[in-house]
Amino acid sequence: MTIRLGDVVPDFTAETTEGPIRFHEWLGDSWGVLFSHPKNFTPVCTTELGQVARLKPEFDRRNVKVIGLSVDPLDAHEKWAEDIAETQGYAPNFPLIADPERTVSGLYDMIHPNASDTMTVRSVFVVGPDKKLKLSLTYPASAGRNFDEILRVIDSLQLTAQHAVATPANWKDGEDVIIVPSVSDAAAKEKFPGGWKTLKPYLRVVPQPGK
Ligand code: BEZ
Repeated sequence: MTIRLGDVVPDFTAETTEGPIRFHEWLGDSWGVLFSHPKNFTPVCTTELGQVARLKPEFDRRNVKVIGLSVDPLDAHEKWAEDIAETQGYAPNFPLIADPERTVSGLYDMIHPNASDTMTVRSVFVVGPDKKLKLSLTYPASAGRNFDEILRVIDSLQLTAQHAVATPANWKDGEDVIIVPSVSDAAAKEKFPGGWKTLKPYLRVVPQPGK
């Protein structure tokens, strides 16, 4: 099933390293990141899980729950966690879904048969508190993801959920943002009383609200 931006993401029940969950209930009022790993006991995945564990306080600070998925069974996840702690210096501190029947992988279209019949691709789904898909990414098995980029784009998503702004290329938290074209100059005067810089009528730059 293809899940598109703005769709309510599929709910599911699953076994995880932190007990059984129902996904929507587990998310509660938080944002969520669901990300898949092709296979346990593989090198790139091992580094990724260590990085997410290291960055967990950053996800917490943004009110984002993180949850991984791998198609191997639960006992294999528990053994793998020891290797992750030993080699990466961080043990997984978030749940990892065991999906040996490929139930969740199928629901979220994480198996791309022309890449592999059995392993998932490296998917990332960012879900808002309304359970709607805000962003998805697909990486091949060979390329580890940049989780700092995922935090960066969550900053952008959370900012634009609150204010009528968009973020420019390579934007980072604290930098200037763009007033969205649907906001007229008259409306912008009310929303941004400190003013903005007009580079073109469609390109109006304003300091990041709330900074
Ligand atoms: C890895 O995590 O290193 C990996 C997994 C599947 C295929 C290739 C690499």
